[in-house]
Amino acid sequence: MNAKEKSRAYFNAHRKSRLARGGYWRLDYGHVLAEIETLRPESLIDIGCGPGGFLRAVQKRFPEIQLNALDLSEEMAGETQERLGRSAVVTVGDAEHMPLEGGQYNVVTCNMSIHHYPHPQGALNEMYRILVPGGTLLLNDMDCAAPIRALANWVFPRLPGGDVKMYTRREITEMIQNAGFERWYYRKISPFSFLCTARKE
Ligand SMILES: C[S@@+](CC[C@H](N)C(=O)[O-])C[C@H]1O[C@@H](n2cnc3c(N)ncnc32)[C@H](O)[C@@H]1O
Repeated sequence: MNAKEKSRAYFNAHRKSRLARGGYWRLDYGHVLAEIETLRPESLIDIGCGPGGFLRAVQKRFPEIQLNALDLSEEMAGETQERLGRSAVVTVGDAEHMPLEGGQYNVVTCNMSIHHYPHPQGALNEMYRILVPGGTLLLNDMDCAAPIRALANWVFPRLPGGDVKMYTRREITEMIQNAGFERWYYRKISPFSFLCTARKE
């Protein structure tokens, strides 16, 4: 099985598990929500939404935002749809080849999902494509000290969940730039994670 097949099978089998409902990274949501508070977008899409915990927090705090989601796993997408209700548009699909029209969303979020993507440049190109001009990407994922990163990158292919790679700050910011984003700000938000805010001009 390749990484995507592993991710899909693993998350399809863990719809109701505690792990799939969010781990330590839920602590990062506050930082992402604070950015959303300043942006107050009309629409938002969460890529690699998992079981919808982040979007549920967005929905409770900003009920006026039109919510959308995409996930590779049918079960995760189904769980998100159930939790958010019918007003949310939830799509099953691959972040690297999104079955979505371009120029639609004011904000794209992606929390703890990009380390599952074997071709993250393709996903970032897609995130750029689906944003409206002036839209913002909020990208949150792992960032640990180099020895921990090296260990994680050795362990990842041996795990069942389709984890691929903990990308470096340099890799992330180069891919953001290659995707076409003109302004970005990468910051550590915990010893284990980063949040990168990038704007499509
Ligand atoms: C660790 S979970 C994070 C879920 C959620 N964002 C959260 O904050 O809890 C990773 C999610 O990314 C999804 N995923 C993995 N590869 C994907 C891909 N190529 N395209 C879309 N979603 C993907 C998985 O199905 C899973 O739901």
